[in-house]
Amino acid sequence: MSAITAKLEMGSPAALATTSVVASNTPIARSDGGPIMEVRGVSLAFGGIQALSDVSFELRAGELLAIIGPNGAGKSSIFNCLSSIYTPQAGSVRLNGGELVGRGPSHGVRMGLGRTFQNLGLFDNADIETNLMLGRHPLMSSGFLAAAIWRGKARREEFAHRERVHELIDLLKLREACGRPVSLLPYGTRKLVEVGRALAMEPTVLLLDEPVAGMNREEREHMAETIATIRETLGTTIVLVEHDVGFVMDLADRVLVLDFGRVIQCGDPETVRNDPRVIEAYLGHAADAGREP
Ligand SMILES: Nc1ncnc2c1ncn2[C@@H]1O[C@H](COP(=O)(O)OP(=O)(O)OP(=O)(O)O)[C@@H](O)[C@H]1O
Ligand SMILES: [Mg+2]
Repeated sequence: MSAITAKLEMGSPAALATTSVVASNTPIARSDGGPIMEVRGVSLAFGGIQALSDVSFELRAGELLAIIGPNGAGKSSIFNCLSSIYTPQAGSVRLNGGELVGRGPSHGVRMGLGRTFQNLGLFDNADIETNLMLGRHPLMSSGFLAAAIWRGKARREEFAHRERVHELIDLLKLREACGRPVSLLPYGTRKLVEVGRALAMEPTVLLLDEPVAGMNREEREHMAETIATIRETLGTTIVLVEHDVGFVMDLADRVLVLDFGRVIQCGDPETVRNDPRVIEAYLGHAADAGREP
C-alpha cells in the first residue's frame, strides 16, 4: 500500500468528546434542515490559470463539510470565494438565500459568516479576552472603545459581550492561557484563540482554513475535540478546508474533493475514501511531485 493510500485509509484518532459547556445565543441548526449555503457554477481564473471551474455544492444546516484536494486543487480559492475575499468571474454563493458574490467580506460577516485564516491573524500583543472582544466588534452597537470609556447603556452592552467572551473561553478550554499576550502562547493554543475569535462573531457558518496545519498530533486531537464540541454545543455549520485527509475523515459528515479546480467527488467519508478517482488524484499529484523538472 502506498503512503498516499495509507493516508486516505487512516482515520484521525481523535476522541470526539461532546461536553456541553455553554448555552448558545445562536439558534441551533441541525442537519435535517435544507441548504444554508448554495454554491452554483463558481469559476475563477488568475490570468491564464483556471483555479476553479464550475464548482457547485450545497451546505446543509448543521453539517460539517470538509473540502480536500491535492496541492493547487483550488481549496484556498474556493474558501476565498465563500468568504468574499475573491470575486469569481462566474457563479453564485448564497447564504440563507442572500447573494455574497461581489459584496465584500464585511457583508459576509453581517450575513453570518465567521472565518479563520491559514496564517494566524491575531492581535499578538493583546490577551485572549481582548482578541475575542475585538471579534465581537461587528455585533456592538456602541463599539469596543466607546464601551470602555462610557457608562450607562454602552457599559451594560460591553459587560454582556464580555460575559459571552468568557463563556467561549470556557467552551474552548482556554481559561489557563488567559492574561498573557497571545504571542507568548503555544501555536496550537493560538489556533484555538483564532477559532474563538471567529465564534465571537456568532456565525451561523464557520469557515476553518487548515485548522491543524503545523500542529503536532496532540494539538490535532485537541482541535478535533474542540470542533466536535462547537458543533454539539452551538450547532454551528462548519466548512473546513484541510490538507490532512485523515483528520477530516473522522470529523466530516461529507467530504468534497477538488482536483484541478473541479469537483471530482462529494459524499460521505466512506464513499470518498474508496473512490478510485480520489485515490488517483492524490497518487497522480504525488507522482508529479516526485518527477524531475
Ligand atoms: N493569487 C493567485 N495568483 C495566481 N494564481 C493563483 C493565485 N491563487 C491561486 N492560484 C493558482 O490557482 C490554482 C489553485 O490554487 P489554490 O491556492 O486555490 O490551491 P490549493 O488547493 O489551496 O493548494 P495548496 O494545497 O497548495 O494550498 C493553482 O494553480 C495556483 O497556482
Ligand atoms: Mg491552499
